[in-house]
Amino acid sequence: MTSAVLAKDLRKVYPGSPSGSAALEKLTLEVPTGRVYGLIGRNGAGKTTFVRIAATQLEPTSGELTVLGHDVRREERAIRARIACVPQESRPLYFLNVEEVVYLYLKLRGLDPPEARRRTRDALEELSLTEYRRRMVSRLSGGLRRRTLCAMVLASDADVLFLDEPTTGLDPLARREVWEAIRRASRENRTIVLTTHYLDEAEALSTRLALVERGRLMLEGSPAELRARVRYPYRVTVQGSYPRDELESYGQVSEIEGGYLVFTREAEARELAKRALERGLRLSMGPVSLEDIFLDVVGKSIEENSVEEAES
Ligand SMILES: Nc1ncnc2c1ncn2[C@@H]1O[C@H](COP(=O)(O)OP(=O)(O)OP(=O)(O)O)[C@@H](O)[C@H]1O
Ligand SMILES: [Mg+2]
Repeated sequence: MTSAVLAKDLRKVYPGSPSGSAALEKLTLEVPTGRVYGLIGRNGAGKTTFVRIAATQLEPTSGELTVLGHDVRREERAIRARIACVPQESRPLYFLNVEEVVYLYLKLRGLDPPEARRRTRDALEELSLTEYRRRMVSRLSGGLRRRTLCAMVLASDADVLFLDEPTTGLDPLARREVWEAIRRASRENRTIVLTTHYLDEAEALSTRLALVERGRLMLEGSPAELRARVRYPYRVTVQGSYPRDELESYGQVSEIEGGYLVFTREAEARELAKRALERGLRLSMGPVSLEDIFLDVVGKSIEENSVEEAES
């Protein structure tokens, strides 16, 4: 089966970038069809650059990238017919109302009017936009504008959807609605490439994930595979006092409010849990979160200073 997106040794250097530093370097990855693929990384990691190259908005400097088997350099038209994109920054058509902007987008994509009307109605309903359908896009709040854009793209019949931070700026309820719409699109066997700074979102939606840092792929795989690849796949928190040097023998220890957080391996996690319970301490134990994995691999949390700030 053709993969939805296939990148091989992809490199991008923006014109005029200092000392030829690359926004993407030797990036090789494969997005399978019909799944949600999460792309995570700090500010400036290269996520948008990747999405824009795949969506044929930006030329790569070298390397290869195909979308549904079509080369981004030579077959732009074939690709554009089969993709839809929520860009990170966008200016939707301000002089239309919400319903018109979705409907016109679908018409422009070649859907016949009854089908476009039906899909528009369903998408507005799905993202709770029905009550705003007559509101001019120019008068929407930022979050509602973002939702309208998501509605356009999720209502489309495109086979591959690129969603670059689709839920940034959305309230928690609207975020969940977009999640549901993404899941629905994926059940229709469409491919979704999702970039996000919300690691819970990446984890909740993605079948596979790629962690990018400074334009390079650091880690790739299903959430379970990512867990299997880190040094310590388990996290144990112990409330109360516990001799620190003893804790250190189990793995990596840090102090938290009222106790300790220990990253460790499975057998050690069980042993530590047993010892802590014997001491009458409260504890929790579970697999590491995507947040923990991110910290372990990048050495910084996703919110911590961006790549650029870090350089200056
Ligand atoms: N148009 C451009 N011209 C020059 N450099 C750019 C341009 N767009 C992005 N860059 C640089 O390329 C690198 C990657 O940026 P990119 O926007 O792809 O990151 P990102 O992972 O999407 O970040 P964010 O999470 O902030 O959206 C950064 O160093 C950025 O400064
Ligand atoms: Mg970006």
